[in-house]
Amino acid sequence: MRRVTVVTGASSGIGEEFARRFASRGDDLVVVARRVERLERLAAQLREQHGVRVTPVALDLTAPRPGRALRHRLAQEGVVAGALVNCAGYGRAGAFARADAEETARQIAVDVTALTDLTKALWPDLLDAETGLLLNVASLTGYAPMPGMAVYAAAKAFVVSFTEALWVEARGSRLRVLCLSPGPTSSEFYGTSATSTDGVRFQTPQQVVDAAFRALGKRRPTVVSGRTNALAATLMRVLPRRLVLALTARQAPRPSVAAA
Ligand SMILES: NC(=O)c1ccc[n+]([C@@H]2O[C@H](COP(=O)([O-])OP(=O)(O)OC[C@H]3O[C@@H](n4cnc5c(N)ncnc54)[C@H](OP(=O)(O)O)[C@@H]3O)[C@@H](O)[C@H]2O)c1
Repeated sequence: MRRVTVVTGASSGIGEEFARRFASRGDDLVVVARRVERLERLAAQLREQHGVRVTPVALDLTAPRPGRALRHRLAQEGVVAGALVNCAGYGRAGAFARADAEETARQIAVDVTALTDLTKALWPDLLDAETGLLLNVASLTGYAPMPGMAVYAAAKAFVVSFTEALWVEARGSRLRVLCLSPGPTSSEFYGTSATSTDGVRFQTPQQVVDAAFRALGKRRPTVVSGRTNALAATLMRVLPRRLVLALTARQAPRPSVAAA
């Protein structure tokens, strides 16, 4: 069966940039998100620019067992995953006490449950591929607890830990596993998260994807995009936890005026 690269969250931001980059190296793609009209527009562009096959799949990742649904869809299309980029995700700023319980559950469903279920469903195919790839998108916030964005940071800590463990489990196979942690990146994320952008230094999705592609040539399990972000992640791993909490309390994201 024909191998494809599956990119979730391809309707905007970092995921869209991943789709563009994999298409430019000649990969056939399956692009996943809810906003299918955006996926269709992207697919048409990539077919024309690079002559690759691109299949848009409209999937709400809060639905139960999205991995099973996606694997079924791939089989219907007569393709099999050779690479999986789990990029879909989002976070909401605000005190946990004030968060809506349904919304909190949806966030965990996308950021944690769907990422795990997709990885589980496609893992045998990725292991089987000539040059398999699993690339999970976490966040700099996954390196430290983040008051004001507690669920998001904890969800991304899960992604870092989970992916590092799978990196070890995949050793001795042809499957490359990588966890990418962006810092603040210009995308629709900040609109969704309702976080203030005052004083935030942004990378572009292109810079973030560049960092991932550079890291793919190395034998490491994780990459944090951007030098300052990488230094911050290293410090958060070595400093005493009380000090980390004191620092993140000062850095805590503030809700934007619109969301406050
Ligand atoms: N931007 C940042 O500063 C930053 C920093 C660190 C980490 N990240 C991580 O990078 C990844 C990409 O974010 P981004 O910055 O590119 O943000 P973005 O532009 O908002 O993109 C988020 C993507 O996730 C998809 N998504 C959200 N909920 C979904 C659902 N229920 N079902 C299916 N797809 C869903 C969205 O597609 P639809 O809305 O069309 O479904 C969209 O394609 C995320 O995992 C995010 O946590 C971002």
